[in-house]
Amino acid sequence: MSEPGDRKTPFVVGWRDGFMINIPQVDREHKHLFELVKRLELSTVQATVDELLDYVVTHFTNEQKLMEDSNYPGFPAHLRLHEEFAGSVADFLGSGDEWTEDRVQELRRFLNKWLIGHIMTHDLRFGNWYREHHGTNVPEVIARPEKKVGWFDRLLGRG
Ligand SMILES: [Fe+2]
Repeated sequence: MSEPGDRKTPFVVGWRDGFMINIPQVDREHKHLFELVKRLELSTVQATVDELLDYVVTHFTNEQKLMEDSNYPGFPAHLRLHEEFAGSVADFLGSGDEWTEDRVQELRRFLNKWLIGHIMTHDLRFGNWYREHHGTNVPEVIARPEKKVGWFDRLLGRG
């Protein structure tokens, strides 16, 4: 039986509407990321990690395309944040340590904290800038990750 605050109690933050940046596609993708983080559990961890990495690549690529296409001045700095994240995740997974409840929890905690911090600061800033300069009619983007060495290759262990 877990007590509140027990270190075995899974730390996981679900999606909240307060995380919205009011760009429908980005919000939808963020919500799905939270769902995948929530789904992380020891018995199926590798499959969920694989799906999560894949979806992070899709999401970052889409978000970056939207920033680039709209001439967002903060795009280069934002791209670096995505690259740093890819590096951190690659380091964490690259240790090759065996999966344990603690390690799964560490990953969930890291992903939740990074997502919330990133969305509520940097993505929100973009959402506000976008509406100010382009209005509320945001096109849906479908970007295809390019086959080049970069943040997504590192994330997927190909770099
Ligand atoms: Fe972002």
